[in-house]
This record gives sequence, C-alpha cells and structure tokens, in this order.
Amino acid sequence: MPKLGVNIDHVATLRQARGGGRPSPLEAALEAQKGGADGITVHLREDRRHIQDHDLWQLKKKIRVPLNLEMALHPEIVRIAMRLLPEKACIVPEKRREVTTEGGLDAFQKRKVLKRVVPSLQRKGIEVSLFIDPEIRQVRTAKEVGAKAIELHTGTYANAKGEKRKKELLRLRKSAIEAHKLGLKVHAGHGLDYENVLPIAKIPYMKELNIGHSIVACAVSVGIRKAVQEMRKKMRS
Ligand code: PXP
Repeated sequence: MPKLGVNIDHVATLRQARGGGRPSPLEAALEAQKGGADGITVHLREDRRHIQDHDLWQLKKKIRVPLNLEMALHPEIVRIAMRLLPEKACIVPEKRREVTTEGGLDAFQKRKVLKRVVPSLQRKGIEVSLFIDPEIRQVRTAKEVGAKAIELHTGTYANAKGEKRKKELLRLRKSAIEAHKLGLKVHAGHGLDYENVLPIAKIPYMKELNIGHSIVACAVSVGIRKAVQEMRKKMRS
C-alpha cells in the first residue's frame, strides 16, 4: 500500500478566512498523524494565502512524520526550504490567480533552473520530487535534472469520466513504470478522493499519495455533529 501524505493547506485556508489561530494546521497535522498519516504536506505559496511561514517552523519542530514542502521555483521560497530543511520537497508550478495548482510543472522547459535548484536542495538532505503531468518526456527530464522522485498529477484523471478516465489512468501507469525503470520513486496527488483513489493506489510502484481537500472536507462532515454537541453542552453549563 502506498504511504499517505496528508495535505493540510485547507485547514490554514479556513484559519486565514478569519485571522487568528483557529483551526490550527499544527493540531490538524498532529491529529492526522494519530489517524495514520505517513507524512504531512504543505504548500507555502508566494502569496501566503493559506500556510504561513511560522506554520512551517512549528510543523517541523512538532510532527514526527516527514514534512513535505510543496514549493514553486521562486528564489525566496527556495531560500526558505534551504533553511527549514523539510525531509521532502515537491517542486510545483504556481500561478497567482489559480484556485489550486493547475497542471504539472513543465520540467522540460524549466530544466536549466531545475539542474541548479534540485541538486542544491538534495545536498541539504531534502528528497526532491517534481510534480509533473504523466508524460514520458517529463519523467525523463525529472531523472535528467537529478530528482529522486516524481509526483504524478492526478487532477485530469480525477476530473475525467468513463473512457477518458481509463485513458488517463493508462498514462499514469505508463509514467509510473518508466519512472521506476529510471530509478525514480513514484508519488501521485491532486483531486484524489474516497471514490477515485483505489485505481491510483493500485498503480505499480506507487509509493506515496498526497491528499488534501477530500480529507479536510470529510473531517468537516464527520466532525460537525460532535462540534455542535460540544457547543450545546457549554451553553447548558
Ligand atoms: N499534490 C500537489 C503537488 C498539490 O499541489 C496538491 C494541492 O495542493 C495536492 C497534492 C493535494 O491535492 P488535493 O487537495 O486536491 O487532494
């Protein structure tokens, strides 16, 4: 079974909606850990729309499982990663106006800068993956620039239905097999939920899935009854 990295960005999104400290991404991470998360994933965006810099340092200090920092190829974020030293970093593309990461990194086009940044992060002991679309050229470029892993973008698979979904699953499988042949670890993520996760978990050589939105959404659904009961209890007392 692949490992599960839990992305807690959306807990921070909710916190940022009101300012203040609640809900706490750190508490969410510690709870996720108790629930069996094998890792915690966060994306420090250039616009700081959810995770803030101080979250990173708290998480790094308090969680027991590996921290995976999703990061754009932005000099400021690269500098932060070099100081933070998370166990893993996943290089992602980032557009200012996107709601969430849209599409994989064009590693081929960015190979020059990747050849500089990837080894410098890895020299610090950070295992670097590239978040790429399931295309053989992108997989080979990940190897060429010295990454240790790829994270296959499953967003197209998650949004597709019927034949289109089957076709995308095949592309993901082929990319995973190619990556394994090249000695790269295979991860995947984006848009995975309770209904669509199984075929992805079954892809050969799949080592890790990073899942955020569906888990945080489920946590709200399964937790709201208890939260209301606790408020009523407080009001009565
Ligand atoms: N992996 C990467 C590289 C991502 O950018 C994201 C979204 O932040 C995820 C995984 C998690 O995606 P989702 O929130 O749709 O599960």
